[in-house]
Amino acid sequence: MKQRTWGGRFRKSQSKKFMEYSASINFDKRLAPFDLFQNAAYAKALHKAKLLKKSELDRLLGALNGIKTEFEKGRLKLRIEDEDIHMNIERRLSEKIGALAGKLHTGRSRNDQVATDARLYAREAINDILKLLENLQKAFVQNAEKNIDAFMPGCTHLQPAQPIRIAHWFLAYREMFARDAERFRETLKRTNVLPLGSGALAGTNFDIDRKYLAGLLGFDGITQNSLDAVSDRDFALDFCYAVSMFFSHLSRFSEEVVIFSSAEWGALILPDELCTGSSIMPQKKNPDLPELFRGKTGRVTGNLFNLLMIVKGLPLAYNKDLQEDKPPLFDSADQALAALPMAVELVKKIKFNKSVLKKRIGENFITAVDLADYLVQKGLPFREAHGIVGSLVRECEELSITFSDLTLGQLKKRSGLFDKKFLSYCDPALSTDRKKGVGSTSKSAILAQIKRIKRELK
Ligand code: ARG
Repeated sequence: MKQRTWGGRFRKSQSKKFMEYSASINFDKRLAPFDLFQNAAYAKALHKAKLLKKSELDRLLGALNGIKTEFEKGRLKLRIEDEDIHMNIERRLSEKIGALAGKLHTGRSRNDQVATDARLYAREAINDILKLLENLQKAFVQNAEKNIDAFMPGCTHLQPAQPIRIAHWFLAYREMFARDAERFRETLKRTNVLPLGSGALAGTNFDIDRKYLAGLLGFDGITQNSLDAVSDRDFALDFCYAVSMFFSHLSRFSEEVVIFSSAEWGALILPDELCTGSSIMPQKKNPDLPELFRGKTGRVTGNLFNLLMIVKGLPLAYNKDLQEDKPPLFDSADQALAALPMAVELVKKIKFNKSVLKKRIGENFITAVDLADYLVQKGLPFREAHGIVGSLVRECEELSITFSDLTLGQLKKRSGLFDKKFLSYCDPALSTDRKKGVGSTSKSAILAQIKRIKRELK
């Protein structure tokens, strides 16, 4: 067997089975564009440090460019014997330009190299996710605007609690996804710091201008401790956490979509294009998409735990365990990037069945708090008002009627404070507009929310 790049000190060649087991090329090949980008910048830094002549730099850059084209056209041959993407590219480089290829690794280790590639990868994923998250927020606002004057029961314990405007429900989810975007932006700050120049763990013996490198590679700063820099995977964990939070929000939304579109509620209409039928039951229209979102939340949260377990108890600095960081990192990015456009489509297309909801909010004594507050305005302590309205609920239940069916006589028996205005306190629409202050479900508060969000989303 051919000697490995690092094989100088070995008497026997590596076991083939072990070589295959330890290779990462099958999954880290997707780092190729980032590795090539990094290599070109590193060659320039070597030239700046007078370790490469201008002619050598030009040959290296030309060859790297050629490899980039090969990769893009799917013609770059990757070999498992070359372990990972870094060694594969180095091997291809030496096929093209011979011994000069060996100069590119001067002062650099695969440890600072892979840490840099992974950060470049995460940075790109975050930027892509941020764009899609913006579309998702816009979709929520769009559907909110269509539903400003429509009402639904707001629930606690999944029991009808108080009437809300449907727009309010859409905008609640927009807030969650806005926080997710914020989390990704925070993650980006900690991700966009350059570890390159840290060498294997101790720094390098050469004058590599790390700030110059950071500039070339678009990093906002450089890491401050080489030992930490090569073993730090916090950025990947932050990223996986941000993806998990995003999916948790998407999963909560999905759960409500599933519930509201169920036959029992019949309140939400899913677009045919995003539903699935049953192979046996011809009548079925299943909410597979939100169910998949809900299911994949388990998967990405698994990725977060996977990474947490990898870094737990790792001694400084690089350990091969860290090679296992990439599958969860890549998978979380893939899942977020695949889910987001589908989520945008779902949010844009869901409709509410307004007549079902109108009936729903007429039931269940959903304006009970308004009725109690009405008595409070007339001077009754809230606890007493609560008791009186509670007894009205019981009376209505016994008679199978609702608040607005009660006569003034029946009400007066409970409290002399009732007058004929009580009817307006049984109206769900009026109930929403009685809500005061920022963030409430009143029409004016919702219009203000939408105005603010549109400004934020520019
Ligand atoms: N494929 C390796 C990884 O992903 C690259 C770093 C190898 N470093 C080493 N010291 N063996 O972690």
